[in-house]
Amino acid sequence: MLAVKVPKKEAEKTRRRLLEIGVLAKGYAVKREGEFVLFPVTEEVEGFELVEAEFERVERRPHSYREVVEVPEDVKPLLPSSFDIIGDIAIIELPDELMPYGRTIGEAILRVHRHIKAVFAKGSKVSGEYRVRELVHLAGERRTETLHRENGIRLKLDVARVYFSPRLATERMRIFEKTRPGEAVFDMFAGIGPYAVLLAKKAKLVFACDINPWAVRYLEENIGLNKVSNVVPILGDVRKVAGKVGADRVIMNLPKFADRFLREAMLSVRDGGIIHYYGFGPEEGLYSEHEAKIKSVARELGFKVEFLEERKVRPYAPRQFNIAIDFRVLK
Ligand SMILES: C[S@@+](CC[C@H](N)C(=O)[O-])C[C@H]1O[C@@H](n2cnc3c(N)ncnc32)[C@H](O)[C@@H]1O
Repeated sequence: MLAVKVPKKEAEKTRRRLLEIGVLAKGYAVKREGEFVLFPVTEEVEGFELVEAEFERVERRPHSYREVVEVPEDVKPLLPSSFDIIGDIAIIELPDELMPYGRTIGEAILRVHRHIKAVFAKGSKVSGEYRVRELVHLAGERRTETLHRENGIRLKLDVARVYFSPRLATERMRIFEKTRPGEAVFDMFAGIGPYAVLLAKKAKLVFACDINPWAVRYLEENIGLNKVSNVVPILGDVRKVAGKVGADRVIMNLPKFADRFLREAMLSVRDGGIIHYYGFGPEEGLYSEHEAKIKSVARELGFKVEFLEERKVRPYAPRQFNIAIDFRVLK
């Protein structure tokens, strides 16, 4: 077939150029001949030396498990197009109709994504005080502990024992960018420490509280793994700690119940400090109910609030969003 022949040192530049003009023939291995590289092309290209050559075909690796999974045709449209990856563990949400094919689906994920070693299905919604969910093992190792990398930090955790969502990585980076050196931060619902450990890279001090002993165990391990010495892990109900710490910035990452802890948050923040509040809100009024609660608690305490930024963090349920409200407290 027709090929473009270039010296080795021009290979990468040429490959990009051929891709750009859309003439690189797909499904063939590039050929090396001494000091030259040959690219298969679909038509003549000006400005290059053209030759005839034979190329070996290469199998295209499937990009999605949906290309290889064997399930009946009628349930195929129900296959989710994405799933969460935490470290080397995949967690997929399957509708009931697909649960009988869970093992086949899990094995297809393992085949396509070589770095994944275990696959679980969500067995329930996130629930209870610890905000964890049940998991159903589908394929691969029966292991729930893993090491996840995010925003340049390493986080060890057990996906069955603690809350963790990789979908919040961008939100955590947003807070990191707002954090200023010298600040004291209070992470009221710290979990295994994805905010606390990240912010510790910039802030002076981070108080990180969680009521789940497993979360605090991993938080302590993650402090060591990331060599940060300015995080103070606190195991227990945040109600007992609030008011005893003075923070420039407070993080309230418990969207389901954060409104119940507004008093504690406002008592813990210094005059002029900032609270990052999370909640769930319906499409038609994302922030209004939360704003009203924030204002009402501030009024009871004799404080003033100034709303700084409001944003959707991610979709949560049909027409429901996980939202963030940043506000300043003036005492
Ligand atoms: C939604 S998770 C967030 C964890 C972490 N911030 C993250 O981004 O992964 C909420 C956490 O709050 C903790 N929690 C719930 N009620 C609490 C309380 N009263 N005091 C302290 N922690 C609590 C749960 O154990 C859980 O780890």
